[in-house]
Amino acid sequence: MSRLIVISNRVQPAADGAGNQGGLAVALSAALRESNGIWFGWSGGETDHFTGHINFQRHDGVATATVDLEPQDVEEYYNGFANRTLWPLFHYRIDVAEFERGFAEGYERVNARFAETVQPLIEPDDILWVHDYHLIPLGAELRARGVTNRIGFFLHIPWPPMQLLLALPNHRELVEAMFAYDVIGFHTRDWLDSFLDYVSAELPGAVIGADDIITLNGRSIRAVACPIGIDTQAFRDSANQPNALNAFQRMRISANGREMIIGVDRLDYSKGLQERFLGYERFLASHPEALGRVFLLQIAPPSREDVQSYREIRAALDGLSGRINGEYADVEWVPIRYVNKGYPRDELAGIYRAARIGLVTPLRDGMNLVAKEYVAAQDPEDPGVLILSRFAGAAEQMGEALLVNPHSAEDVADAIARALAMPRAERIRRWRALMDGVEQEDVLWWQRRFTALLAAPDPEAPADR
Ligand code: UDP
Ligand code: G6P
Repeated sequence: MSRLIVISNRVQPAADGAGNQGGLAVALSAALRESNGIWFGWSGGETDHFTGHINFQRHDGVATATVDLEPQDVEEYYNGFANRTLWPLFHYRIDVAEFERGFAEGYERVNARFAETVQPLIEPDDILWVHDYHLIPLGAELRARGVTNRIGFFLHIPWPPMQLLLALPNHRELVEAMFAYDVIGFHTRDWLDSFLDYVSAELPGAVIGADDIITLNGRSIRAVACPIGIDTQAFRDSANQPNALNAFQRMRISANGREMIIGVDRLDYSKGLQERFLGYERFLASHPEALGRVFLLQIAPPSREDVQSYREIRAALDGLSGRINGEYADVEWVPIRYVNKGYPRDELAGIYRAARIGLVTPLRDGMNLVAKEYVAAQDPEDPGVLILSRFAGAAEQMGEALLVNPHSAEDVADAIARALAMPRAERIRRWRALMDGVEQEDVLWWQRRFTALLAAPDPEAPADR
């Protein structure tokens, strides 16, 4: 069996239990344990002078290899091009995107440094799998250094509509670099279609053939929509462990008979938290009978705090939660419990289970794993209701949720009212359909499907599930 080398910016095996890992980290730990692989990336630490020194470790069966970066790299590559330019632009937020040549230079530099450092670890039969928007040009950097292995790329965030991408000064260079890969993956058909739109409009030499095989300058790559899942079995198991059961009991006691609505998101403007609070406020305003009988628990661990737009969203949410609580609370009830820290996933499992509603309303999201975790944590006899933004990648697979437009406070308020009134039979029917999907299309299904395509000798190989 070939060895898998996974490369991503952040290397954070789930066993670390830090409690605030993103969806990517969660999925990859499960995938790597299955193969005899290595996970290469940034340590999260800094060094005055980049040497390419690799720190090898093992975490619960996962081998990791990490490098420190110079402060200027972190500023220009991670805070800069990745999180001030690509993240907002790819989440349709051109208004907060910043375009600076120094960011693009730092991005190129770090991608070249990653390629140079990882190359000596690569053996002839290895399969390489590069992840996410931080490392789009890595495949091209590896090819430039003579690497001929199969290399796949997976984008975990949306691919933006063509007209938005045109605002990026080096858009063409970025997309052309993707032709160094053998297979490129997106979570949904929508994101893949936006990619194909760009290719047909902006790369005149490119030919899009059957099975989304795209040929440019004699090289063929395969593009695929392959939605990531959660480690459903492990998640359900952890939901029955003491940490989860304790969290469930504590929540039940502290809810004191009130219905709980749960939100769990990194503190990120793409998650639609302000709109969510406003939708909930609208619900309170239009349903006075619910005052004192329901509350929203929003868990929102801070994220990317060196970036101004993230500090602004934090300040805005402090103000908004304070205003809503000030307006509606009474001496023994507050409508919003707003918590700025992260929790380990096993505790989250218990908290999800105690909630009558999972409120997941991103304005844009590549996938959204919280939606799937909420479903997996429910009691089959008395499940809660998932309210899900139609603009999350997860909506493509989760049509039995109450799908909402997160920009419309009325839509969100109506969905909350409908979920609270939903008869148990309907809750069970919807949950069963959602759970079937979460069980069948789990993280192992995703990983096997993508790596099977990647291991296939040529891009004409079948893409069957
Ligand atoms: N998460 C966590 N503790 C927290 C908040 C989030 O472990 O306090 C996990 C959550 O369980 C999920 C992941 O972080 O597995 C978030 O993934 P998602 O796809 O929803 O969003 P992302 O952060 O990747 O944008
Ligand atoms: C999203 C991205 C990941 C990223 C995670 C956490 O899930 O797709 O690539 O690792 O957010 O963000 P951070 O900047 O803390 O790595």
